[in-house]
This record gives sequence, C-alpha cells and structure tokens, in this order.
Amino acid sequence: MIKPIIIGNWKLNGTQQSIKNFLKLLKNFLIDYHKKCTVVISLPVLYSYLMQKLLFSKNKNFFLGAQNVDNHCSGSFTGDISPFMLKDIGIKYVIIGHSERRFNYKETDRMIANKFYLLKQENLIPVLCIGETKQEKVENNTINICKKQIDLIFDVCGIKAFNNSIIAYEPVWAIGSKISATPQEAQFIAGFIRQYIHSQTKNRIKNFFIQYGGSVTQYNAKNIIQQKDIDGFLLGRAALQIEEFIAIIKTINM
Ligand code: 13P
Repeated sequence: MIKPIIIGNWKLNGTQQSIKNFLKLLKNFLIDYHKKCTVVISLPVLYSYLMQKLLFSKNKNFFLGAQNVDNHCSGSFTGDISPFMLKDIGIKYVIIGHSERRFNYKETDRMIANKFYLLKQENLIPVLCIGETKQEKVENNTINICKKQIDLIFDVCGIKAFNNSIIAYEPVWAIGSKISATPQEAQFIAGFIRQYIHSQTKNRIKNFFIQYGGSVTQYNAKNIIQQKDIDGFLLGRAALQIEEFIAIIKTINM
C-alpha cells in the first residue's frame, strides 16, 4: 500500500512564535506516526531555517516544502527565488500552479510547465495543482481543464515528467470555501488523472501521487482518503491549526 502524503500549504501565514507553538505539538506526534505517512509543511520559505532547527533533523518522515518558485534559474528577477535556492536551503517539495497564483498573478500553463521542468532538473518534487472553476464544473468541463493543465507538462518536460511527482486535484470552487468535493467527485477526477498519466507513459511511471485539496477537514478526510486513487491531501486552513492538522493525519491512519 502506498504511504499517504499530507502537505500543509500555509500560504501567507505564520510567525516565528506560531511556528514554535505548532512544532511543539507536532514533534511528539510525528514520532509515533513515523512510518505511517509523509508530512510536509510548505511554509513561507523565509521561515525554513527556523523549522529545520526546531524539528527537521529528528523526524525522517517530515519534509519542508515551498509554495512557489520562479521559472528562471538566475538573473534580473527582483524578488524571486530559484529552484536551486530552494534545494540549497533544504526544501524538497514545491507547490506550483496553485489557483491563487494562476488567478492573482496571471501564471499561465506555459510558465508553470517551465517551473516544473526546472524543479525536475534540481531533483525537487513538483506538486502540480490542477482543477476547474465553478463555471467550468457547471459546464461539465472538469476533465478537459485537468487534461489541458497536464498536457503542457508532457510537452515541455517529456514523457517521464511525472516520475517522482505529485498532482494535487484542487477544484477552485472548493478552496477556502465550506464545500469540498464529495469523495465520489474527488475519486472520479483522481481516477481520470491516474489513468491518463498511465496511458501517456505506457505504465512506466514510478513514485507518482495524487492528492486532493479544497476544504478538507477532520470530518471529511476519512471518506476522501478511502478513495482508491487518492494518496493524500493538500491542506490549506486545516494545516494552520495544529489540532486539526493532527486530527486529519490520525484519521487517515485509522
Ligand atoms: P483550504 O483547505 O483552506 O480549502 O485550501 C486548500 C488549498 O488551497 C491548499 O493548497
């Protein structure tokens, strides 16, 4: 059985003090859950050192993640952070293509595919977010949208792109709302994603995971994770509250 992977996307949240409080509880908990699942916190990267100092060295199932990366390696790109820099400070997983970046920063599928390519060059693990808006769902366009968001990755990165990588299905309408996809809806799209990736790669793919994200809580986590093609969660709000975060990890391990 695949080891579930839970990623907490902290977005623009966190202070030194809140990190200390969070880790005090997470630390002991992770020791018990050592072998049962992989836990990643994608925090604002300037706090990575603090997190590493407080937790990292003692927990082998815990990793640091980032929420974004630039689509260049170096040069005159004020304010940006390169894939190499993320690797250099100990980041392993990098979220790209989150809908908040697609919409707020006008990131295109092409830019996201370039990021994916550069992350693979550095042996970092891309967490590619895909998913449809409410309107696209109503128009029955979910599969087409997901396929389009995946296809450019194949075009830019080649047939082996999704080895050692994650696709997070995050319906835009579910993010930050009170409504998650139903377990059946999440499974339907995750099933499509797996079948599509396998068909394109002729089943030659290793270490490929599919996550669900969008209003996951301790109450709906169990039913969603039980779906055949869902290997973990990309959590937003639930990853900011340590009690909720732990409750979700416990749920999926029951
Ligand atoms: P919520 O869990 O707060 O809906 O956010 C999901 C998300 O955007 C994770 O990337």
